[in-house]
Parts: sequence; C-alpha cells; structure tokens
Amino acid sequence: MIEVKNICCIGAGYVGGPTMAVIADKCPNINVHVVDIDEERIKKWNDKNLRNLPIYEPGLAKIVSRCRDVNLHFSNSVKEKISVADMVFISVNTPTKTKGLGAGKASDLRWVEESARQVAKFSKGHTIVVEKSTLPVRTAEVIQNILRSAEQDNQRIGISFNVLSNPEFLAEGTAIEDLEHPDRVLIGGDNLDAMNALHAIYERWVSKEKILFTNIWSSELAKLTANAFLAQRISSINSIAALCEATGADVREVSRAIGTDSRIGSKFLDSGPGFGGSCFKKDILNLVYLAEYFGLNEVASFWESVVKLNNWHQNRISKLVVKKLFGTVTGKKIVVLGFSFKANTNDTRESAAIKICKDLIDEGAEIWIHDPKVSKSQIEKDLNMEPYEDVEETKEHKLLNKLGKWKFSKNLDIFDQAHAVLMLTEWEEYKNINWEDISKKMVNPSWVFDARSITERSKVEDAHLNLWRVGDGTSK
Ligand code: NAD
Ligand code: UDX
Repeated sequence: MIEVKNICCIGAGYVGGPTMAVIADKCPNINVHVVDIDEERIKKWNDKNLRNLPIYEPGLAKIVSRCRDVNLHFSNSVKEKISVADMVFISVNTPTKTKGLGAGKASDLRWVEESARQVAKFSKGHTIVVEKSTLPVRTAEVIQNILRSAEQDNQRIGISFNVLSNPEFLAEGTAIEDLEHPDRVLIGGDNLDAMNALHAIYERWVSKEKILFTNIWSSELAKLTANAFLAQRISSINSIAALCEATGADVREVSRAIGTDSRIGSKFLDSGPGFGGSCFKKDILNLVYLAEYFGLNEVASFWESVVKLNNWHQNRISKLVVKKLFGTVTGKKIVVLGFSFKANTNDTRESAAIKICKDLIDEGAEIWIHDPKVSKSQIEKDLNMEPYEDVEETKEHKLLNKLGKWKFSKNLDIFDQAHAVLMLTEWEEYKNINWEDISKKMVNPSWVFDARSITERSKVEDAHLNLWRVGDGTSK
C-alpha cells in the first residue's frame, strides 16, 4: 500500500484551493502544499484577513483558518513542493483555445503540459500524478508520455510515475458542501496500487460505495459528459421558458410538473438568464471538438446546439429589455442586480451579465451595477470599459447623451430615477427587496426584469411596477 504523506497541488484556483483545503482538513496527517505561478493569488491565500482570500465560497474561510500553516500551505515554490510530494494534483486552467488547430472549441492544454513537464523535472522517487483539471479524453496519455521520457532519462535514476484521472464535480457557490458530501468520487487509472492510495485519502470522509474506479478514458469522458448533460437541461428549460412566454404558460409550473417524474428529477430545471461559469461552455465545445475529430458530425452538432441555444437566450433578454422600454434605452438608467454567474461566488467567468450589460451599454443605457461579492475592478475587466465616474465626460458626450456607460455601487441605494431593474443573479439579499419603497424612487412607468424568478409577482405589481419574469407567460 502506497502511503501518501505529502501532496502538492499545482494551481491555486477555484478547484485547487477549496479541494486541497478540504483534503487538509480531513487528513491532518497529510501535508498539503498548494502552489501557483500567480504571486498575487498566493498572497491573497496567505492574507491574515480571511475576507481577502482570492475566492469567495461559503465555509471556505473557516477551513482555511483551521488548517493554514498547520498542514495546508500556499506558495509559489513550485519546484520545491513537487520535489517532496508523493502525490501531485494538476488543477490548472484548461480554457478553450483561441488560436491554432481547434481554436474556439478544443481545450488549450498548455498549462497542463507545462505542469507535467515541471513534475517530470523536479519530482523524486515515486510520484502519483492526478489529473484534477477537466481534460479531453486521452490527455493522460500526453502526461504519461512526458513523464515516461523523464523515467528514461539516465540523469534521473530512480524516478517513476503513475497517472490517475480524478475529475472534480464541485459547483461554485456550494464547493465546500460538494467536496464534503460528494455524490461520487471518480478515480480512473490502470494501476491498482496508485488508485488505492487515492482511494485511501477520500475514504477518510467519503463512504466506499461512492468511490468509483473506472479506466482512465472513461473517467475523463464522464466529466465532460456530466457537464454536457447538466448544461443541456438548462438550455432545454430555457427554450421552454421562451415558449411559455409566448403561450401563457409558466415555466415554474412546467418545471414542477416534469420534475416530479422520478426519471427526470427536479434539480437543474430553473430557467435563468442562460448558463455561465467557466465550465459548461468550454466542456461542451471540447466534446464537440472530440466528436468532430472522430468524424461524428451529428453528435457534434447535437451538443453544439446546447451552446447555441444559450447564446440566443442571453441575447433574447437584452433585446426584450429594449423592446419593453419603448424601443430605446438611450440615456435611461437601468439598475443591474448581480454580476456573478450564480449566487454565492465572486466568479464572473462567462456570466450572462457580461453579455447583457455590454449589449445594453451599446444601446446607450446608463447601467448601475450592484453585486455583493464581485469587485468593481473585475467588472471593469469583464466589460472592457472604465466605469463612468472615472471618466471625464466630454461636452459632446453630455449633449448627445448617446454613449452608454456603467457605474458600480456597493450599496443598494441606487434606484433614483431608474427606468428599470434587471435581476441577473439570485443573491439572497435581492429576494427581500421592498418594491413599494423602490417604486417611489423610480420614474413612472418603470419595469422590473427578473431573469432569475426570485420576485413575488404580487409584491412587484402592488408597487405599480411592470414585471417581466423569465418564462412567465401569465404577465399582463
Ligand atoms: P483557475 O483559473 O481558477 O485556477 C487555475 C490556476 O492554475 C491559476 O491560478 C493559474 O495561475 C495556475 N497555473 C496555471 N499554470 C500553472 C503552472 N504551470 N504552475 C503553477 N500554477 C499554474 O481555474 P479553476 O476554475 O480552478 O479550474 C481548474 C480546472 O478545474 C479546469 O480544468 C476546470 O475546467 C476544472 N474544473 C473547474 C470547476 C469550477 O467550478 N471552477 C469545477 C470542476 C472542474
Ligand atoms: C458546474 C457543474 O455543476 C459542476 O458539477 C462542475 O464541476 C463545474 O461546472 P458551476 O458552473 O460552478 O458547476 O455551477 P452550476 O451550479 O452548475 O451552474 C452553472 C450555470 O447554470 C450558472 O450560471 C447557473 O446560474 C445556471 N443554472 C443552474 C441555471 O440557470 N439553472 C439551473 O437550474 C441550474
């Protein structure tokens, strides 16, 4: 039995950070080192003030405060920590390629390859290398080839490797809960000793029947498939939401009705502004690329339609806002509630809010954005535009008032003279908004566009506000 005493995780991101924090918490006898090339990120992981951790996840700060500098360490010492590790997790980013072969669909594996090269160069003795990143099928082979050349290097006598696939299924916003109580843990590999060593770690807190062994390629494909199925459900329900709006049905009622069928199940049937996050789009496009590569064009176009529907749905929302506001939003103030791609995370990657806000700014609107966890600088990066208060307004700009703009607010005192409120993230604090009070501040007539279905119709309408809720065809 291989006993793991030192873990090194390459990549201190949304997966590496929380996953390693939970392993350290559950396995006090294992030393866990999380390393990253990003100095700023590591500084934040080591910040005394736990509010400054680079990632917001409910429950994360508590675990970090318990384990950090005990058996959980964050550093930029990639070489040193690899050299003392019995097990190395690769948790680096795998975004969609923007250039070259497969651009726009295939995953960019340069960070994974670089990590494998670092392991090949700095490891000592026997090392188990675990793919934690989401990877195309047969990537383990690439990693194995890189490591094999190190094994055969005469200068590096006595080193050897096993490669395992151990994809991560956590969802942001519930990462700690998902890690502590996973539906399953998947371990793909071809070496039973190495698989058992990883099994022994999870076994500390996950029951045995939930730890599944598969071959390495099935494990890699299962991860892509899980995300594709989940995203497909959202595109399916969003397509039905549009039909509900056209026919007078209500998508919440449809979801409830179909969700009670035990074969369908009730989860992941909430219509929203379109799925965001760093995984769904990238992983489906990766699947599309794989299918095309193997000449399975019908398979490829089936999955591609899930992404196409999502893009169409996001566009549909900004168009609808313009239409309801008498065909123009030029110079009109619109309050946007929520910028993260879902509640309980500060992550904005692929958030529907980015596209929708950009479209409205292009149409000339004055957008006031609030989000409890996303920073102004992050929104600036995403919109690729400075906020209005930081720009000197030209005379011409003032006169024409045609250029759209955006502002950021940390508080919710922003409804004065607004023509509309657009709800894009389901943060808890938006669920109890006092529409009576807000209505008095807004212009008349004004609109609430609820893309998350978190408002109560009667409370909004009693405040004399017009309401559009996604998938709600019962609107007057
Ligand atoms: P991320 O961008 O938040 O973090 C990746 C980190 O890796 C970055 O901090 C980067 O600086 C670091 N890195 C890159 N190359 C490095 C190198 N050579 N040496 C050291 N550090 C390096 O990404 P993430 O969201 O944590 O995702 C990581 C992987 O996990 C991806 O493959 C993703 O698809 C997968 N995944 C993500 C989620 C999620 O919810 N975010 C869930 C499951 C799986
Ligand atoms: C997803 C997978 O759920 C997770 O298993 C995987 O490891 C990473 O990718 P994540 O993207 O973090 O997790 O969040 P998720 O809860 O899946 O939400 C993704 C997007 O779908 C969000 O924009 C969310 O708002 C949206 N969504 C989700 C809906 O619109 N409706 C739903 O019913 C569920």
